[in-house]
Amino acid sequence: MDKIVSLAKRRGFIFQSSEIYGGLNGFWDYGPLGVALKRNLKECWWHDMLTGHDELATLPGAPTPYEMTGLDCTIIMHPQVWKCSGHFDLFHDWLVDCRESKRRYRYDHLKGRWASHREKRVFVVTEQSGDEALVETAAKAQKFFGLRANKSSEIEWAEAMVPLAGNAPFAEALGPDAASPGTLTEPREFNLMFETRIGALAGNDDDRAFLRPETAQGIFMNFKNVVDTSRVRVPFGIGQIGKSFRNEITPRNFTFRSREFEQMEIEFFCKPNDSAAWYRFWRDRRWNWYLNLGLTPGRLQLREHDADELSHYSVGTADIEYAFPFLPDGEFGELEGIAHRGDFDLRSHMEGKLVRRDGELVVETDDAGKPRHRGSGKDLSYFDDISRERFVPHVIEPSAGADRAVLAFLCDAYHEDEVPDEDGKPRSRTVLKLHPRLAPLKVAILPLVKKDGMPEVAIDLYRKLKPQMATMYDEKGSIGRRYARQDEAGTPWCITVDGQTLADTTVTLRDRDSLTQVRVPLDECVDLLRSRLA
Ligand code: GAP
Repeated sequence: MDKIVSLAKRRGFIFQSSEIYGGLNGFWDYGPLGVALKRNLKECWWHDMLTGHDELATLPGAPTPYEMTGLDCTIIMHPQVWKCSGHFDLFHDWLVDCRESKRRYRYDHLKGRWASHREKRVFVVTEQSGDEALVETAAKAQKFFGLRANKSSEIEWAEAMVPLAGNAPFAEALGPDAASPGTLTEPREFNLMFETRIGALAGNDDDRAFLRPETAQGIFMNFKNVVDTSRVRVPFGIGQIGKSFRNEITPRNFTFRSREFEQMEIEFFCKPNDSAAWYRFWRDRRWNWYLNLGLTPGRLQLREHDADELSHYSVGTADIEYAFPFLPDGEFGELEGIAHRGDFDLRSHMEGKLVRRDGELVVETDDAGKPRHRGSGKDLSYFDDISRERFVPHVIEPSAGADRAVLAFLCDAYHEDEVPDEDGKPRSRTVLKLHPRLAPLKVAILPLVKKDGMPEVAIDLYRKLKPQMATMYDEKGSIGRRYARQDEAGTPWCITVDGQTLADTTVTLRDRDSLTQVRVPLDECVDLLRSRLA
């Protein structure tokens, strides 16, 4: 992972935000190559899911037509949105503070193991997982008991690593960055929504507003607008790409958990009876999307949530997960969730905040029996003019993180291998084997030397290709170094203009992954590369 982070910085993919002031934890900027990669990823998603989709879904029975459309909603919305969506009351993590180190942890990330030596015992807490957790707790216990390294085998360990929650009294817990036990506070709720105030005279509670923690709610807000103004009919989906904000307690693992990030979300509206089939359809469709763009199948996993993991609205969710290299072997991190949200959102925004009671969704009331958070009172049901039925559509939500996807594609693409240099000797290289659709640059045009008319021919070709695809011209340094620069940037093809070009108007086309070099006529380059990208 360190190598990937270093390449990302060195080659201008990802920088820390506000770096000259020491950076801001959980915020990241995309550099010239990074922004191109991220835009390509979002454009693939928009094209494949919305504008260029199949129009027919293969559900059990007959192929079913469905429509997809897009939206772009505001980041700040009416505060009532978050009350009825459940985020105001429920979108929190439990945090634990350390009085000694002043550090803050997510309660559910803390685990540990009991260690004892002679009469003393302590529960050694860590945030790490896998082998790193074992190493960290062993070192902390040795220090705590004041033992030399050669005496560490005297420490007795009780069974395996277990969560802090429910397994140890706080007085006996030795925090990850503390020297003595009992410095962790009891856990408390921490709402993840960023708050702001609207208007110049902001001052009372009515001015409180929130930065959206998901793009999804903007889609629900506009469900009726879209149905009334465009010709979509259920089943149909609305997609949106945009920024979301979460005041994560412990942002970490590069861009994986950030405080400002982008989501690519679809809310797919369907008839309640068909929703289970649509759920499976979207789960499989999203899974295949990642594979088609080149993620290694063995590093991807599809995981259905257990009942106790489901969000407050969901009746079924599957995660698409990737084996990020910062995780211990065998562990996966979430790339995307595909949730069956039932009619929770539309009904909540009609009636008031819903809660599940005895398996039924009902409006939540306060002690006096009044709805705790009122809905809009607007009718968000749908009338099917063919079947003459009125119903509140069920929703399937494939919700992906653009930054996490970029990170997964970067990690997956990163390879180190050996290539022959100009003299045929093996040279090690770093290469990003990105799918050509994602690659920031598609082709680099390289004159072999800066003389003999080669730059002129190369620049002419560069100018022909540039309006068609992201093209780079590079004449600086040896040809080997220039290939190496393009390999690191993930450029799938290089075209070299050499002595033979001047004689027979052919150029060398080099393939990043197979390293094959073939001669192609100069005037066929544009069509050839366009067809490869199609
Ligand atoms: N509307 C449903 C929803 O927002 P989620 O599982 O909380 O569901 C969806 O988020 C996706 O957004 C995640 O799978 C992940 O890719 C991305 N995501 C969530 N929190 C993130 C964070 N703090 N940093 C980066 N990406 C995040």
